[in-house]
Amino acid sequence: MVKKFSAPRGTSDIFPGEARLWQELETRARLRLACYGYNEIRPPFFEETDLFVRSVGQTSDIVQKQMLHLLPQSRAQVADAPHPVLSLRPEGTASVVRAYIQNGMDKKESLSKLFYIGPMFRGERPQKGRLRQFHQIGVEAIGPDSCSPYLDAETIRLALQVLDDMEAGPYRLKLNTLGTVQDKENLSKSLRQRLTTSKKDLCADCQNRFDRNVFRVLDCKNKTCRQIVARLSMDDAHLEPSSRDYYQKVKSALKTLNIAFDEDPSMVRGLDYYTHTVFEICSSALGSQDALGAGGRYNNLVTQLGGPQADAVGFALGLERIMLARKEQEAAGVPPVDVFVISLDETSLASNFQLADILRARDMIVDMSFKTASVKSQMRIANKKGARLVVIAGEDEQRRGVVTLKNMRDGSQRQIARDACAREIKDLL
Ligand code: HAM
Repeated sequence: MVKKFSAPRGTSDIFPGEARLWQELETRARLRLACYGYNEIRPPFFEETDLFVRSVGQTSDIVQKQMLHLLPQSRAQVADAPHPVLSLRPEGTASVVRAYIQNGMDKKESLSKLFYIGPMFRGERPQKGRLRQFHQIGVEAIGPDSCSPYLDAETIRLALQVLDDMEAGPYRLKLNTLGTVQDKENLSKSLRQRLTTSKKDLCADCQNRFDRNVFRVLDCKNKTCRQIVARLSMDDAHLEPSSRDYYQKVKSALKTLNIAFDEDPSMVRGLDYYTHTVFEICSSALGSQDALGAGGRYNNLVTQLGGPQADAVGFALGLERIMLARKEQEAAGVPPVDVFVISLDETSLASNFQLADILRARDMIVDMSFKTASVKSQMRIANKKGARLVVIAGEDEQRRGVVTLKNMRDGSQRQIARDACAREIKDLL
């Protein structure tokens, strides 16, 4: 019997039909990244293990459980080194920062905007949307004294726009701030204090994490740990006034760009290098592994790795999850609704009926509900139909000659004049 081989668990082959779609989506991303002044960097697929230990964090799940090590060249190395010398990269940020320092990029430009597309490796337990070899599109903006709330907002806008370009479907932006290294220290202390009485009820992993890195308790998936964390009522007491002010400015810059977000004070992220802004973009089409991408600011990593003072912010999007989200939408028979029209009351039904007709005359795919059910239930229908835009109008809007236009991709909404709305809506699609 000749042994038959299969792809290693948690990896997959990308066949020609699919590969064409990957290329198409990558091309769209590259065009968008160029608009924001990002240039490509191609770091190696493996690095010294210590680089990841010192950036992602000794106590992080990635370092503790998921690193895929390369075999040492000699037995002596095993005895000498605390970790195997080389590891496959579990993420891209550490490599980009290493390359930034090694090449003295701070002396060449004030802000280096670098992007990468390629495979990452984590020895996780495979499940839907969680692989051992997966692909990321990531960006890192690094430069001395480059810390600005506008750059944070720009980075988030870029992540959302790349997802839109890839038609990754409806998503939700979750936002939080961790503050400075000192603020994070304050938060650790206060978390330990508040968790002391329930420490004995935490899972075995979290009892360990309590002393080593209490932040990790906040993202534990264990049911009891989640209940304990839910009772913590997180606030911003650990933040210095300047950190609070910085976060306020990030939020107003996002509002200026009409980007909707949900604040999640318990989101601390699984990688240790973050300071200030952190974010996650979650798909409503995916199950438990729903993060399409994530990122944040990391102002201390460059110096921590022996480099010059340089602030940084970035994100990475998971390509397999984007593919999955697209497939889920297709399978649900979701698109193709461009616009869904919601009537707030009986009185506005007739004029909204007419508006749907005007939009269709401009070749848009339009649907509406003929029953004036609650906005919530009509929004649910719009969501199910994968509507990209929703027009909402009631008697009041009708009287004022306006409609409310909600962009389902980023959650933003605004009022526009009803007369000119068909053109404006068409331009948005
Ligand atoms: P991360 O949250 O570990 O962040 O990963 C970013 C994205 O990669 C996730 O949201 C997910 O879409 C995808 N991903 C992660 N692990 C897996 C997996 N096992 N299988 C499939 N997809 C996965 C980072 O990697 C940071 N380096 C992001 C960053 C860049 N922060 C600042 N700059």
